Amino acid sequence: MKDVIIACDFAGSEQMLVFLDKFKNTKPYLKIGMELFYAEGPDIVRRIKERGHRIFLDLKLHDIPNTVKKTMKVLSSLDVDMCNLHAGGGKEMMRYAVEGLTRADGTRPLLLAVTQLTSTSQRMLHDELLISSSISDTILAYATNAREAGLDGVVCSPLESPIIHDAIGEDFLTVTPGIRFADSDKGDQVRITTPARARELGSDYIVVGRPITAADDPVAAYEKCCKEFLR
Ligand code: C5P
Repeated sequence: MKDVIIACDFAGSEQMLVFLDKFKNTKPYLKIGMELFYAEGPDIVRRIKERGHRIFLDLKLHDIPNTVKKTMKVLSSLDVDMCNLHAGGGKEMMRYAVEGLTRADGTRPLLLAVTQLTSTSQRMLHDELLISSSISDTILAYATNAREAGLDGVVCSPLESPIIHDAIGEDFLTVTPGIRFADSDKGDQVRITTPARARELGSDYIVVGRPITAADDPVAAYEKCCKEFLR
């Protein structure tokens, strides 16, 4: 199911709740990242869940398999809807993560892999990480590992959605940040697309931060995103 996820990059719960109070008639899907989670602890997740929102908890786990498994078990009990890890931790770590997330009744949150961060350049991959393959080959190989380990999809640029879907399968989710309205400020994002273009490229979920959170009317900006992306 396609949806728009708002990236709630707020420093504390007060700002977060002031923002959420603006949404009187809808309960948008929200992404909570490391900043808010580390500032407020797991209680912020419970409080937002109680308000009826779905939550993508973006903590990008990367550790030994056993530690990731036990941590995923905690995230699963927090009742988040989506979470993620770094595919660079390897297939065994990803398999353990799926095990940790799966509840006694067999249900679990969606689990996504980060392949290569968009801040990683080809030069950095080669000179610092000593990976000789191209960035695109690395992304595809890591995404393939994620699928084989039982994950549901990847976080990637909307421009990569068609390649990932062609190579790995239409049902493998692409969750895509880097979204801007045609007439808005790019900020620090470089490879960007509009919500409408992300839809054409086959993104399953778009993650939108500042175009909504910094808008004069965040509710109207969210509705505009939904209108363009979900149509
Ligand atoms: O404000 P903006 O729309 O740029 O926010 C995008 C969100 O998606 C931020 O929370 C950012 O950390 C996240 N993100 C990203 N690029 C990635 C992975 C995550 O912009 N490759």
